[in-house]
Amino acid sequence: MVNVFASLLLSALLHLCSATRAALFDITSFSLSGHTDHTQAFLRAWAAACSSTSPASVYVPPGRFPIGHLHLTGPCRSTSITLHIAGTLSSSAAYPYSGGSPDWILLDGVERVSLLGGTLDGRGSALWACKASPGGRRCPAGATNLRVRKSKEVVISGLTSVNSELYHVVVEECRGVRVEGLRISAAANSPNTDGLHVEKSEGITVTTAVIGTGDDCVSVGPGTANLWLERITCGPGHGISIGSLGKRFKEAGVENVTVRWAVFKSTQNGLRIKTWAKPSGGFVRRVVFDHAIMHNVHNPLIIDQNYCPHNRGCPAKGANSGVSISEVQYSDIRGSSATAVAMSFDCSRRAPCRGIELRDIRLTYNDERAKSSCSNAGGKAYGTVEPPSCL
Ligand SMILES: *[C@@H]1O[C@H](CO)[C@@H](O)[C@H](O)[C@H]1NC(C)=O
Repeated sequence: MVNVFASLLLSALLHLCSATRAALFDITSFSLSGHTDHTQAFLRAWAAACSSTSPASVYVPPGRFPIGHLHLTGPCRSTSITLHIAGTLSSSAAYPYSGGSPDWILLDGVERVSLLGGTLDGRGSALWACKASPGGRRCPAGATNLRVRKSKEVVISGLTSVNSELYHVVVEECRGVRVEGLRISAAANSPNTDGLHVEKSEGITVTTAVIGTGDDCVSVGPGTANLWLERITCGPGHGISIGSLGKRFKEAGVENVTVRWAVFKSTQNGLRIKTWAKPSGGFVRRVVFDHAIMHNVHNPLIIDQNYCPHNRGCPAKGANSGVSISEVQYSDIRGSSATAVAMSFDCSRRAPCRGIELRDIRLTYNDERAKSSCSNAGGKAYGTVEPPSCL
């Protein structure tokens, strides 16, 4: 960790040096006197950077800056833009004033943009309280802290995201996004505050993230390929999940996902793949779960093809998922399960799981032997596998 943060600091310093030659736009020099909301100042600084003929930086100094919906859109004339945020952006559009856009901060249609540092505070607790109250289903959905959409070659380094009303960071329809040194936190009982969600994107790499929220730590949606997640620490929350998939019939698959060196602390799930039991042309293939540590995790390894949260709008009994799951490797997974069933592969009868590999698994359950459970799951076990494989 120390090395990672030292290198982040170094890259930030190097960046500052090189930024002396680039155009630098400090948002405070765009602020209007008497305005406490800095949305317009930030948008003006962005417009200046975006239209710059040289590489450009937008700078937010230390301190707390209330910001409303901040939609930063491309394409830009500048060949590269750095958003260097030393301070905290706090949502001035938090519930009950939210509404309208599903995104608080949006990067849309940009290339070669780096977001360095910064804390995003979505101030979501009032909306969470509304959703927890009687009649909570009538509350607004809320906004995502940060969405990166239709963008290429984006770097997000050293970002902290807290208390989002909804998902914290979403990467959608992007290519080549590198995320490093990410910290995300929201209350364990906050609804739908997923940490990082990736979908319809290729070549996304996430290294070193510490994520604790009320929902999934990382979730992977349809149309994701070549995703690399390394050194992710999860908890509290629902763990790392591919899915849910197969809610719709026409859906892109998920392919080539690697998760390595993940640590789970008292999460609901560890490494999960979940699909609805509905007809679908979707698929999940070539997934590697390598080196993971489970601390008191309810479902450490789980494939659930009968996913239906809160038992609302579930498919008819006996319905089957059409999502086919193949070539999923689990290796060097150790630690403790909070329930007796440490490995559960509940696959579809219509599209059974194929090519599951278990290698060097050691999962315990208190002082008893943990169990594994399989249905419609095929594959092989190698080396020590505890609980014993049911494939
Ligand atoms: C799988 O994804 C990784 C990045 O996560 C990439 O380096 C590798 O080339 C991909 N493999 C294939 C066969 O596309």
